[in-house]
Amino acid sequence: MNSNEKLSYRNKNILAPMVRIGRLPTRLLALQYGADIIYSEEIIDHRFIQCKRTINNALDTIDFTLDHDSRPMFRTCAVEKSKVVLQLGTANAERALKAAKLVEQDVAGIDVNMGCPKEYSTKGGMGAALLTNPENIKDILTTLVKGLSIPVTCKIRVLPELKDTIKLVQMIESTGVVALAVHGRRKEERPRHTVRVDEIRAITEAVSIPVIANGGSEDCIQSYSDIEKFRSATGASSVMIARSAQLNCSVFRKEGLLPMEQVIKDYLKIAVRYDNHYINCKFCILEMMKEKQETPVGQAVRSALSLEQICAAWNMTEYLQSSRLKRGLPTGSDVINDEP
Ligand code: FNR
Repeated sequence: MNSNEKLSYRNKNILAPMVRIGRLPTRLLALQYGADIIYSEEIIDHRFIQCKRTINNALDTIDFTLDHDSRPMFRTCAVEKSKVVLQLGTANAERALKAAKLVEQDVAGIDVNMGCPKEYSTKGGMGAALLTNPENIKDILTTLVKGLSIPVTCKIRVLPELKDTIKLVQMIESTGVVALAVHGRRKEERPRHTVRVDEIRAITEAVSIPVIANGGSEDCIQSYSDIEKFRSATGASSVMIARSAQLNCSVFRKEGLLPMEQVIKDYLKIAVRYDNHYINCKFCILEMMKEKQETPVGQAVRSALSLEQICAAWNMTEYLQSSRLKRGLPTGSDVINDEP
């Protein structure tokens, strides 16, 4: 990608980074429904730098895989190349750059997670732990900006005092990042707490880079028309959606929401095409089914031990077989799907 084609973060609807959910099928589904930019799930730098990059000719994908693992940590393809942002979990500038370099030619941008409040992240100095370590933020972001030819962004939560958040975002802007995603909650706040729309707005007024407003699912965003309302309430340039897209990815559709059954079938077509692991498919589909998990189809998905069985539950066996035949992949249950 030359510098004229760099990804713009202005006026965009964005799929948020989500562990387990934000793998290739969900990202492509979000694109299909109208998302402008799609973020990967968080990938931890020290694990990622041990991956090998391989071109998978059978699937037309690029896979980043650890030696001992048959499943890629990150799988991507040409369809998403100009829209996909890889999110890193990091606490170290040098390692972050090494990880980003490995994937630089395959993605449109790199994001740094500075909002994850979970202990596994914060105890290593990653995620929301960075918010109280501005020196390290500066080091990581300036190193990435200097060392990469693709745009760098970060995703933060707000601090307890607005004036401290403002100081922080102005420092972040000075590192050369092209945009900033703000989850409008504090580190201690859970998804049920009301999103801090006014604090996001104050941030947008304090910086000149595009701000990506996040945190509006449930409170504000159920369907496409709500995205615009959230954008104007926060004054942000772009909007990033997690939970509402996890539940029904067609939230990105201008024409309105599709029924859950249709979304699952659309998801499965992509999952089959890119041979996504059945355990991940199961997780994503059950999240979409929510209270319908107790129906016979839901129970069949829950007890499935292969992608074939999930497709059978959705009357998509024929689709699976013809798609696999086309790619010269085994069509029966001998396909190895061995997630531990
Ligand atoms: C998340 N979130 C998240 N954030 C992040 O920066 N990196 C990640 O990998 C994840 N993983 C993740 C998984 C799942 C299942 C959920 C629901 C959330 C947080 C997410 O990106 C977002 O900030 C919040 O969910 C708030 O946005 P919504 O849900 O109100 O749109």
